[in-house]
Amino acid sequence: MACASVARHALESGLVVAVSRIQLKPLAASASPSCLKLLTVRRHGIRAMSETPAMSGSPPISGRSVVVKEKEAIPKGSTGAKETISTDPPRGTRDFPPEDMRMRTWLFDNFREVSRLCAFEEVDFPVLESEELYTRKAGEEIVGQLYNFEDKGGRKVTLRPELTPSLARLVLQKGRAQSYPLKWFAIGQCWRYERMTRGRRREHYQWNMDIIGVPGVEAEAELLSAIVMFFTRLGITSKDVGIKVSNRKVLQAVLEKYGIQPDSFAAVCVIVDKLEKLKREEIVSELDKVGVPAEAIEGILQALTLQSFDDLEALLGADSGAVTELKQLFALAEGYGFQDWLHFDASVVRGLAYYTGTVFEGFAKNSQLRAICGGGRYDRLLSTYGGEDTPACGFGFGDAVIVELLKDKKLLPQFPHMVDDIVIALDDSLKVPAAGVAARLRNAGRVVELVIEKGRKMKWVFKQCDALKAKRLILLGTTEWEQGKVSVKDLSVREQTLKTVDELIAVS
Ligand code: HAM
Repeated sequence: MACASVARHALESGLVVAVSRIQLKPLAASASPSCLKLLTVRRHGIRAMSETPAMSGSPPISGRSVVVKEKEAIPKGSTGAKETISTDPPRGTRDFPPEDMRMRTWLFDNFREVSRLCAFEEVDFPVLESEELYTRKAGEEIVGQLYNFEDKGGRKVTLRPELTPSLARLVLQKGRAQSYPLKWFAIGQCWRYERMTRGRRREHYQWNMDIIGVPGVEAEAELLSAIVMFFTRLGITSKDVGIKVSNRKVLQAVLEKYGIQPDSFAAVCVIVDKLEKLKREEIVSELDKVGVPAEAIEGILQALTLQSFDDLEALLGADSGAVTELKQLFALAEGYGFQDWLHFDASVVRGLAYYTGTVFEGFAKNSQLRAICGGGRYDRLLSTYGGEDTPACGFGFGDAVIVELLKDKKLLPQFPHMVDDIVIALDDSLKVPAAGVAARLRNAGRVVELVIEKGRKMKWVFKQCDALKAKRLILLGTTEWEQGKVSVKDLSVREQTLKTVDELIAVS
């Protein structure tokens, strides 16, 4: 599979038209044994313009087919009919060829750097989890989107659709012995069988930051400040992006007012979260189905339209928990200096059942893009897994919508493949010392492309210098090497000098 993938990218980037057994050998030697079986890969037909779908929100465009002939699989006397495989990854998923991988690495480096600056520690969990972690009963969309199956031992497992349940499981497993608060971050791939739109895919990577053990909104303020720091690093301002903030205690208070049982709270939240997607009558009918009386439905929908603290106070009273927490959070935001990013909006409820307090969602202003990030407080998730109620809050930030936004705002940097030095032996007899020069330069911290193919012409080498934006070209010629020297071409000024290897390292 890995081999077919390599072949596909070679074809898609137009670099390889026919790959012979000999050409593939070095690749195969360093790849999986199954790669060795790939003897012939050649262009078969073009179904559509090739475009790499990775990181972009647009669905993958059908690629080209390659013909993979496995010599071992052809029975004696057969015509050797070729088997055609699709070059597309499964619908809604992405390959990451080098150029997309460079972008992903850049994005993740920024996620990591912000987390590090906020003194969070990195954690990770398996992509495959037990299904029971997600089988919540509140009617959440995410549960219907599971990539779940029974493993060979009959266990019900699923590819994780989000990271929060895994984090809760790990907190429970580590137990109370840990010193709280825990400030953890993770970057991981999540799988949801979703309807695909721009920025929504069937697999995506999520950056999560979570704080466990802090009941006050100081924790939410820390998380929001990290999100804003991330946006700012990428050149995004509060003119481009806002963060809508509310608190589920608003809805809780409204439900209490109408005497509705707390056990229908999660289901009500999940239903009203669909306000933007469904017609009002459909919301009303769904609320009716979970037993919310008509006058309460009216009260709930009314409460969701509130957009100011004054209105909220008028509805719930100045001493309500929701009002106090929201005001505290906005005051803290002022202290950090990111208050202009926040917008109180009672219609933000979030579609996950486990939130209990503050909820928030990052959105692109003047844009049709879906939520960029989202999170909130989930003080009761751990007790639903058999632990004790534990204060917790966090957010998830996907890798897809942000890239769309950066593209729209022309803020996405270029990610060229660059090297410092290109080293080439001008004679085959100098391959060994050339390898030594490359190794010494690499050990000194330089990025070195050693020309390992035979018979490369200088025209090709100079093209390669341009393509890789090399700073120096280092040539090993027989006469110079006999004097213990190499030719160094400084490519910024196009000046050539003779240097010993020690001098070469010293100036690097
Ligand atoms: P979520 O709102 O479901 O929350 O997802 C968080 C973010 O992940 C979204 O805002 C979006 O950036 C990204 N995302 C979600 N689904 C997709 C998709 N199909 N394609 C591309 N990107 C997607 C959660 O997952 C919570 N567990 C977040 C959290 C962490 N709450 C507390 N801690």
